[in-house]
Amino acid sequence: MSKRVPIVAGNWKMNKTATQARAFAIQLRERIRNVTDREIIVFPPFTALPVVADELRNSNIRFGGQNMHWERSGAFTGEVSADFLSDLGCTHVLVGHSERRRDFGEDDDTCSRKVRTALDAGLIPLFCCGETLEQRNAEQTSDVVKHQLSIGLDSVKDEEFIIAYEPVWAIGTGKTATSTQAEEVHRWIREWLGKRFGPAVAETVRILYGGSVKPNNINELMAEPDIDGALVGGAGLDLASFEPIVRFK
Ligand code: PGA
Repeated sequence: MSKRVPIVAGNWKMNKTATQARAFAIQLRERIRNVTDREIIVFPPFTALPVVADELRNSNIRFGGQNMHWERSGAFTGEVSADFLSDLGCTHVLVGHSERRRDFGEDDDTCSRKVRTALDAGLIPLFCCGETLEQRNAEQTSDVVKHQLSIGLDSVKDEEFIIAYEPVWAIGTGKTATSTQAEEVHRWIREWLGKRFGPAVAETVRILYGGSVKPNNINELMAEPDIDGALVGGAGLDLASFEPIVRFK
């Protein structure tokens, strides 16, 4: 395991009502209260954030938003601002998840604006990047990921952020990248970080892997030197699978 403190994050996507989320948060809090050597973050739907905040505020589990608008406030019907999130006690926000890019027209530019706004509001952005299957087959993975990072993180100065590498073809498909495939991209990302921010930042930024992470593949992934944690979708909805992932060896 690297010297970076690992992170296990659960992205609940559009799952769990506020009632279900409260029950889950209470159980999760009780089951993993003794886990102190890693960071645990959950990303509930917006409507569940207030109740999750009530249950997790004084726990070892942090929570954040799955998305946010790039402006701080204004005439943006239906949108949620970074300040709404931080006011509830959120510490993190996902930016640029591939489902947002694919289904809601988010591009590198909007991601970049969101990263800046999140940092300005005191949130830690968890910036998602990753290639499609076509791009991987065309051997464009490295170019695609570096392009997403260079625009998405273009405004970042000396501020904390987290990266999640999530190959689009591995999300919700049951097809995990092998640990060797994932490590290769994580290494490219760390090299890119070194060029863009310098060696000290490259050594400290946590790079999570996401895409069909399960109890039976987490240990192998975490054994890789540049994989610092996991962003978990489906397996994060159920304690029977999330707890063993949180407790990876
Ligand atoms: P999955 O989702 O674990 O269900 O593949 C990962 C993600 O989208 O963050």
